[in-house]
Amino acid sequence: DAISAVNSSSRDIAHVLTENNKNYLVLFGSQTGTAEDYAKKFAKELTAKFDLNVLCGDLELYDYGSLNELPENVIVSIFMSTYGEGDFPDGAVKFENFISTASESSLENLRFTVFGLGNSTYEFYNGAARKVQKYLQAAGASLLGSIGEGDDATGSTDEDYLTWKELIMGELKNVLSLDEQEQKFKPSFQLEILDTIDSNTSLGEPTKNYLPSALLKGEINGPFSISEPYLGHISNSRELFKSDDRNCIHSEFDISNTNLTYSTGDHLGIWPSNANEKVEQFLVAFNLNPETIFNMRQLDPTIKVPFPLPTTIGAAVRYYMEITGPVSRQFFGHLIQFAPNNDIKEKLTILSNDKNKFQTEITSKFFNIADAILYLSGGIKWETVPWGFLIETIPHLLPRYYSISSSSSLDKDSIHVTSVVENSIEPKSNTNVVGVTTNLLRNIQLAENKMLGSESNPLPVHYDLNGPRDLFRDYKLPIHVRKSTFRLPTNPSAPVIMIGPGTGVAPFRGFVRDRVNLLESDRSIKLGKHLLFYGCRNEDDYLYREEWIQYATILGESFEMNVAFSRVPGTPKIYVQDKLREQSKLIWQLIQDGAFLYVCGDAGRMAKDVHKTLLDIVMKEKGVSEDDAIEVIKMLKTSNRYQEDIW
Ligand code: 2AM
Repeated sequence: DAISAVNSSSRDIAHVLTENNKNYLVLFGSQTGTAEDYAKKFAKELTAKFDLNVLCGDLELYDYGSLNELPENVIVSIFMSTYGEGDFPDGAVKFENFISTASESSLENLRFTVFGLGNSTYEFYNGAARKVQKYLQAAGASLLGSIGEGDDATGSTDEDYLTWKELIMGELKNVLSLDEQEQKFKPSFQLEILDTIDSNTSLGEPTKNYLPSALLKGEINGPFSISEPYLGHISNSRELFKSDDRNCIHSEFDISNTNLTYSTGDHLGIWPSNANEKVEQFLVAFNLNPETIFNMRQLDPTIKVPFPLPTTIGAAVRYYMEITGPVSRQFFGHLIQFAPNNDIKEKLTILSNDKNKFQTEITSKFFNIADAILYLSGGIKWETVPWGFLIETIPHLLPRYYSISSSSSLDKDSIHVTSVVENSIEPKSNTNVVGVTTNLLRNIQLAENKMLGSESNPLPVHYDLNGPRDLFRDYKLPIHVRKSTFRLPTNPSAPVIMIGPGTGVAPFRGFVRDRVNLLESDRSIKLGKHLLFYGCRNEDDYLYREEWIQYATILGESFEMNVAFSRVPGTPKIYVQDKLREQSKLIWQLIQDGAFLYVCGDAGRMAKDVHKTLLDIVMKEKGVSEDDAIEVIKMLKTSNRYQEDIW
């Protein structure tokens, strides 16, 4: 792992702590990097506030046999993400095994805190974090304060964290008799400015052979993973539709002659990079020179450098820093010490202490870091903020995940992704807020089709250095496949009901292509009924319209498409749920015949509304009470016959 390290010959947790002179332990179980991010923030703050020597590491790096024999007064803070059905992240499964089987009172010396990262639209909300608490307490360990639960569904993770953190910091102060000092940034690295670029200098730029070594390694053999992605080339890219506020891009990554494999229904992680205008805005805000070349030396051997070095400030900002996301209230708190003048210091102090004020003045305007600080200071440059502080405080760019829209049996040499770029100018701040990866994919599509520069392009451009077309022609993006459990039934005669409005149709294109391939390889196969419920606004954003016709010709009667149009002038708004209701009888019949149901798309409302509709269908057609219908749906879920891929 490039980011967190054990500086020890041993994996034994007590040993590692002692050997590195640490007196506090922060552990995280992270799948996509969010729990890691919060763990590191927390560790950094413990150091800044209380001068603690914190070891912060991934749960998968250590062995826990000595967890009950940590040096005196060491408290353990655990940050845990939840996956799937209340599951632990892959790297934390061994830890789960250890704590879930620990005998009663075997961890009675242990004092711990837990913060969970979860999403309340899922059934087992913060399941993994809750299990940590349960198992540790069952083994006699004591919880400090109470468990914190971040909820991504309501976008309140940051505030949930801050509330919990205040409480825990207060507890720790008491329990460990700590003196609080004014927050002062203590660097974990020493920066060194270099004069010349040489072949060792990483420019982050994947097209120019200045590849970060971890990425380069990935290009050779694999296996490819989140820490060693494959550099994928987009061999085909086209616009599926275009309207005033949205564009939809179909991108095909070439994976021929690689060891990168996937299964229909998996997700593709794609590493973004920041667009020119966002990079420039950030550099201006902090008065940074993108050409400055620097190196970083570890001051704490347990904290590894965050990206390939030496590099330039420009490359670090473009490829490794999350500069376009919403600025956090906590970041404001950390900035106070570096405010360029007293007036701004006061503003920062007020905003970082007042949740509601921060919401109305900053969050509701969709400000990113640079927007916010330029707004606060009326254009003054913040050269008072050390570059080293920015590196260590701003979160890392993380991969974005997409449901794969190709079929691993039909499309062995490529992975397809279907992404929508929302293009909206926020009225309150007049800033252009677009997804960082989707926008990059659109830039590539425009360049590939020789349109970048030739049409008015309202979206931020990633690279328009002289001759964008040439730059994009060989453009490579770091990618990796994340396994999912979203799978077609192995028995092709089982009925399949797919519900996916908007880009939620992506994995179903893969499913249907799988069935097309199957049937073409063996005409005698008898396919069960395959119903697809798709929803869009009107004919213009009807994804893959021509393709479905072809699939229907090949699959014949076994494939049936039901399309709900929500914005056709002069006709009522129709959603996929309405189409499901129309087919109520057939759906119940198919469920009785052993159908598999799949829902993909918006987790916020769509998946819930569909769930409710399915309950209604069971109640009506089976003639049972709501409670009984709930049982039927539960049974479908536990037997994997009702699967969701929602976000
Ligand atoms: P809209 O016109 O109301 O936005 C893809 O985004 C499709 O899903 C659109 O047709 C959109 O309709 C529709 N949609 C929006 N909310 C939905 C919901 N709660 N359930 C099902 N479909 C929904």
